[in-house]
Amino acid sequence: MCGIIGYTGKEQALPLILGGLERLEYRGYDSAGVALIEDRRLVVEKRVGKIRELVKSLWGKPYKGKTGIGHTRWATHGEPSTENAHPHTDERCEFAIVHNGIVENYLELRKELEGKGVKFRSNTDTEVIAHLIANAYRGDLLDAVLEVVNRLRGAFAFAVITVHEPSRIVGVKQGSPLVVGLGEGENFLASDIPAILPYTRKIVTLSDGEVADITPEGVNIYDFNGNPVTKEIMVVPWDIISAEKSGFKHFMLKEIYEQPKAVGDTIRGLISSGEEPPFSLKDFRRILMIACGTSYHAGLVGKFWIEKLSGVPTEVVYASEFRYADFPVDERDLIIGISQSGETIDTKFAINFAKRKGAKTLSVVNVVGSSIDRESDYTLHTHAGPEIGVAATKTFTAQLSALYFLASSGHPEKDRLLSELMKVPAKIEETLDRSEVVEKIADKYMKKKDFLYLGRYLSFPIALEGALKLKEISYIHAEGYPAGEMKHGPIALIDENMPVVVVAPQDRVHEKTLANIEEVRTRKGIIIGVGFEGDEKVEKLSSEFIAVPPIEEDFTPFLTVVPLQLLAYHIASKLGLDVDQPRNLAKTVTVE
Ligand code: F6R
Repeated sequence: MCGIIGYTGKEQALPLILGGLERLEYRGYDSAGVALIEDRRLVVEKRVGKIRELVKSLWGKPYKGKTGIGHTRWATHGEPSTENAHPHTDERCEFAIVHNGIVENYLELRKELEGKGVKFRSNTDTEVIAHLIANAYRGDLLDAVLEVVNRLRGAFAFAVITVHEPSRIVGVKQGSPLVVGLGEGENFLASDIPAILPYTRKIVTLSDGEVADITPEGVNIYDFNGNPVTKEIMVVPWDIISAEKSGFKHFMLKEIYEQPKAVGDTIRGLISSGEEPPFSLKDFRRILMIACGTSYHAGLVGKFWIEKLSGVPTEVVYASEFRYADFPVDERDLIIGISQSGETIDTKFAINFAKRKGAKTLSVVNVVGSSIDRESDYTLHTHAGPEIGVAATKTFTAQLSALYFLASSGHPEKDRLLSELMKVPAKIEETLDRSEVVEKIADKYMKKKDFLYLGRYLSFPIALEGALKLKEISYIHAEGYPAGEMKHGPIALIDENMPVVVVAPQDRVHEKTLANIEEVRTRKGIIIGVGFEGDEKVEKLSSEFIAVPPIEEDFTPFLTVVPLQLLAYHIASKLGLDVDQPRNLAKTVTVE
């Protein structure tokens, strides 16, 4: 987690760095800082809190430096404080460093440095890098970095500047993301593409084990042994406008409303790009889907589709659990990594592990050029555009589109299935038109302390997703459960204060779900039913009813998730919470 950015060129670096940090803030936001080279002197400014605190502290300060680095932090080692905020410097304040990731052997390195009399100012793992580089420096920053980098263990990306070479930035990638942006007489470096998209669309994505040597005149890439590496330049098709709020109060709300487009673009993109993998799902004895959070829930939905349409047994595993379990994986398996960011460290590990075991790997990824995209054998790209709200919404329904596309590949009725899928965006549009009902329900129940979410079959993952959305942005405790599991424990929680959201479209388990609603009603629970328009049974049994347009069973998750996203959004927004940047979270999880 954490976001880093660097600039060297003809413009004043500070506004460009602050602008970039604002776009990176979703990666962490407990403290922020910048370091600039001002007349061969290093100035470092850091603040606890969001970027706006840093911006305020810089008002009126006359910084004109044309080379600098910036950082927004999500604390791992050392609590959020000014001392622990980045950039970190060496003792003489000649070298400054910003870092994303974890240096696993930092305690050992710190002990060694302290043994030599180095005084540390912070509790971070990062500070060791600044001291090591200062000690290794003999007139060439790149050489010093190359000497140090081979001593570091862990997953990290960092950027370093020095007063001795005022127009140079050296950036390192090993496990955490880092891209270089190419301009005219200026160059950039950042944790991800949107941070520098207003300034350039020409991007070089670094691979693990690479170092970028950046000056205003050019960029050279090397491996950790100092051998030059030739890289491809990618021209990014995104437009920065699509990363602005366009009149919505929050990015999350805008992104919920973008779902018809995200789903439509994903289906059209996959059909027209011919991204279909050159193998049949039936070639495999088993499919393992690996993901975290919302992407994991998309996998749970995808499992039902894949098993139904291809007959191949499919398991969905949390990436963090997969990592330390003894899954027998070999060339008979297909491993599918699902990740919006394409950088989630556990999912990335799973893909690399599976490749080493000889399995085929396929990923469903939103960020083109991300690590998981590059490291998988095949990628199905979701064409959702950049997602800024920390809570995933449009990328979830885009992931569902890609998974349905995959499940239908090789099916004798593929064309019919895809033409049905193409009807989904219009139905999501219709669902969004009914958002006022959801807002009223949010008003009524926003003060409740606990929520239950229930569903069966395809609606069970949606119940999980609805509960996750509510807890992550409103901080209200919420649990998702298979509706049939209620009587095995959770039903004990039900009383007249407990809102129970039941996802009950007319599908193969509808009658069973109705029976579960009855069970909740008998115990006086408050039922918020989500069902098809005109479903009098669900409506009658519910205290509140949210209607979605009727649709074929397979596609119900695309619609039923929308009111649950809106419910979480409106509750958090009415509670006055920071919807787009909820506490303790970060959009991209690059630590274990
Ligand atoms: C929840 C959310 C997270 C992510 C999870 C995986 O709204 O956004 O649970 O889904 O961190 O991230 P990706 O998909 O980038 O691997």
